[in-house]
Amino acid sequence: VNSRPTAEIYTRPDVVAVYDGQHELHGAEALLFDDCVKTDAKVLDLGVGGGRTTPYLARLASRYVGVDVSEVMLARYREKFPEMTLLRLDATDLGAFPNESFDAVVFSFNGIDTIPTLEGRRRCFAECSRVLRPGGTLLFSVHNARYLIFSPVLGGTGPVRAAWRLLYAAGRTIAHFANRFPTVAFRCGAGFSFDPLTHGGLMTFVATPQHVAPELIDAGLILARYLPGQFPGNGCTLRTPWY
Ligand SMILES: C[S@@+](CC[C@H](N)C(=O)[O-])C[C@H]1O[C@@H](n2cnc3c(N)ncnc32)[C@H](O)[C@@H]1O
Repeated sequence: VNSRPTAEIYTRPDVVAVYDGQHELHGAEALLFDDCVKTDAKVLDLGVGGGRTTPYLARLASRYVGVDVSEVMLARYREKFPEMTLLRLDATDLGAFPNESFDAVVFSFNGIDTIPTLEGRRRCFAECSRVLRPGGTLLFSVHNARYLIFSPVLGGTGPVRAAWRLLYAAGRTIAHFANRFPTVAFRCGAGFSFDPLTHGGLMTFVATPQHVAPELIDAGLILARYLPGQFPGNGCTLRTPWY
């Protein structure tokens, strides 16, 4: 279990600033939002953070509701998007919404992995399933339990910057081998894993798609499709940071 509560980490000014400063969708998100979120859909955006996904989803939606558990994240979000509906809720209890009230539920950027207990994670999937209309879609990402190799972005950089990025990638890869390779989560393909390099140390759940599929079935959902986080780039499992 997580010894540092998520609620505390996502209230730190440095962490809020990270999510406040992000505006772009990842390639996989852009494709899946396009394919799965229809015009006029009712969309629930869980763990909305700094609102990175808001402009993309809200312009498609007939109803858009953002939710986050961190009051500090929400305060910053309200300054940026005063017109949006925003609620302080824990994604493990969506009792504020009736059954079948959304066409799409989104929990982006591995937010579900920061729920600190397996029971909380199970409740979150069950709640997403309950508030989705039949045929609706849950879009989310999860950390890959088998991610080891950090791939640098080298295109469009000069030789000095490329050399620096290669060195950095080598350092991250060595750190991943030391931290992840010996863990039960790596061997079994699922479990809690401590990432010392993110936000000064963050415990998150990590999993392979093969592990997530039965979690979804338990909640009455089906794993219809998944893409690697580096999409449209390809890469082996060991190079995929999240799905
Ligand atoms: C990794 S950030 C992602 C932010 C944003 N969705 C994005 O894609 O940029 C995770 C967010 O989920 C929120 N969060 C974590 N656990 C949550 C929970 N149980 N219920 C609601 N929000 C939660 C955090 O406060 C944080 O804002």
